[in-house]
Amino acid sequence: MPAALIEMRGIARTYVMGDNLVHALRGVDLVIEPGSSIAIMGTSGSGKSTMMNIMGCLDQPTQGTYHLNGKDVSRLSRSQLADVRGRMIGFVFQSFNLLSRTSALENVEMPLMYQGIPSRERHKRALAALARVGLSDRSDHHSSQLSGGQQQRVAIARALVGEAPVIMADEPTGNLDTKTSYEVMAILQGLVAEGKTVILVTHEHDIAAYASRVVTLRDGLIIDDKKQVPLRAEVAA
Ligand SMILES: Nc1ncnc2c1ncn2[C@@H]1O[C@H](COP(=O)(O)OP(=O)(O)OP(=O)(O)O)[C@@H](O)[C@H]1O
Ligand SMILES: [Mg+2]
Repeated sequence: MPAALIEMRGIARTYVMGDNLVHALRGVDLVIEPGSSIAIMGTSGSGKSTMMNIMGCLDQPTQGTYHLNGKDVSRLSRSQLADVRGRMIGFVFQSFNLLSRTSALENVEMPLMYQGIPSRERHKRALAALARVGLSDRSDHHSSQLSGGQQQRVAIARALVGEAPVIMADEPTGNLDTKTSYEVMAILQGLVAEGKTVILVTHEHDIAAYASRVVTLRDGLIIDDKKQVPLRAEVAA
């Protein structure tokens, strides 16, 4: 495994809006080692989601190079990029993005269906992923029958089930109350302890406190990059 999991050099992303250019990222250098947890902070419009989308192989830079796990992914075709994304990255969203009239188990199985994994194996792996987030007893519940925190845990299980080494989460606690947010952070910290790399975007300093590094963006540039001893999130009894 290369020393750097993520290596971005001079990353810029410009959007074309009619006659205007929006410079969402203006030359970002960022190196992330495997097994770390990074919080990306910054005011609205500073480029956090743009950076996350590029890191997550959902989008490509207009300038600069991006190596993911040693491979240059900055100039891949859409299908090559989708392939890398499927193997390397699990996503967690602010709004959970679960299918509502579908059981927790089926939601978690979904990424494995796209990979063509047979149903018995899917079932087994999805149950194991739900167990990892403490939801074995809710596998038959539909999303609408789960609390917000439970829905986010299902979403984390879905991000985990493909065994991707990187988990990316854009505002994963944005729709959760404080106590539930800490429970979600405890689960994400558990994944880091198992060797995953967790990259999250947050507006909240008390959430960023659970990461081992905080990177702050302003106007498309990194203005601050600090390592810290992460607070330990507690799972409520
Ligand atoms: N698809 C797009 N087309 C045009 N401009 C865009 C697009 N996506 C983002 N932008 C612009 O790029 C800049 C950075 O947006 P981005 O979504 O990365 O910010 P953010 O830091 O995630 O903000 P927030 O905290 O509000 O989610 C903003 O000025 C935004 O308006
Ligand atoms: Mg955003």
